[in-house]
Amino acid sequence: MLKNIKLINFNHLKLASKLTLVLFCVFIGGMLLSGTALSSLLNYRTENEITSKALMLIQTMSSVRNYTSNQVKPELLDKLETKFLPESVPAYSAREVFENFRADPTYNNFFYKEATLNPTNLRDKADAFETEIIQRFRQSRDLKELKGFRSSKNGNIFYIARPLRISKDSCLQCHSVANRAPKSMIKLYGATNGFGWKLNEIVGAQIISVPASKVFQSARESFIVTMGIVLGVFALATFIVNFWLKHAVVQPLTRMAQVAEVISKGDLKAEFQKLSNDEVGQLAEAFTRMKTSFALAMRRLKKQQN
Ligand code: HEC
Repeated sequence: MLKNIKLINFNHLKLASKLTLVLFCVFIGGMLLSGTALSSLLNYRTENEITSKALMLIQTMSSVRNYTSNQVKPELLDKLETKFLPESVPAYSAREVFENFRADPTYNNFFYKEATLNPTNLRDKADAFETEIIQRFRQSRDLKELKGFRSSKNGNIFYIARPLRISKDSCLQCHSVANRAPKSMIKLYGATNGFGWKLNEIVGAQIISVPASKVFQSARESFIVTMGIVLGVFALATFIVNFWLKHAVVQPLTRMAQVAEVISKGDLKAEFQKLSNDEVGQLAEAFTRMKTSFALAMRRLKKQQN
């Protein structure tokens, strides 16, 4: 029933309106399809871009840690008894390098933290969110990485976290009992924090935070611009097709209908005009032939009557 009503309504429409309606349906379908595809493609690419940035940074920080641990610390070991040099500590060098990196205004919304449950430097104390991450690493030892989005006061951020495991016995010199640690270090950091760690224990997590709001914002802008262009092209195409239809089909057909009307009332002087070589032109030609036959038949009829 409903279908019938629609069909009747559609059949009552003029050619141009029918075409516009069809184009409009195609357009809505096309926009929905391309919009969904474009949006998921942009989202995928944006997430990939952010993830690869964060991965590169966390890998760099691990390299800085290894460099300090393997190349700097052995060189400074002798000096530690007299004066503690934080430069020999991997955590310290990683943070310093990252602070230099963040000094560039482009990167001042990037963060690096070696969040630890019982830290030597209280700046590294894990907050509630970080504690949860560390607990998850401690619960499942196979877990090598955690990542995701979260909102912060600086907008939406993407984080990647990796467990910090005490993998070497040498770490315990400064992180097991205060007596074993260089005195100069105790003087600087005290004897209460950052001790009691065990070999192979996961004491914290390296966490890189990368701002995501701006990247998603620019993806949204790309989406709007692209969809705007598609919309513009479609509107132009509809306008051109309609314009062409009016001139090439609707107007010649209307004229033919008028001429046929005049002829049907007996005025045989009216002429069908053939303006093109397409189907409309062929129709005009056929009408002209029909008119000639009609005129001939009329003349014969008149002669017989006389
Ligand atoms: C020479 C002593 C020393 C050694 C050896 C050492 N650390 Fe540390 N570690 C420190 C000090 C001091 C800090 C605090 C640095 C700062 O001010 O950021 C620290 C900080 C850290 C932190 C950041 C959290 C916190 O406690 O503030 C982690 C994680 C860490 N160390 C892990 C390790 C690991 C893993 C090793 C072995 C590869 C290691 N440390 C070896 C002295 C040491």
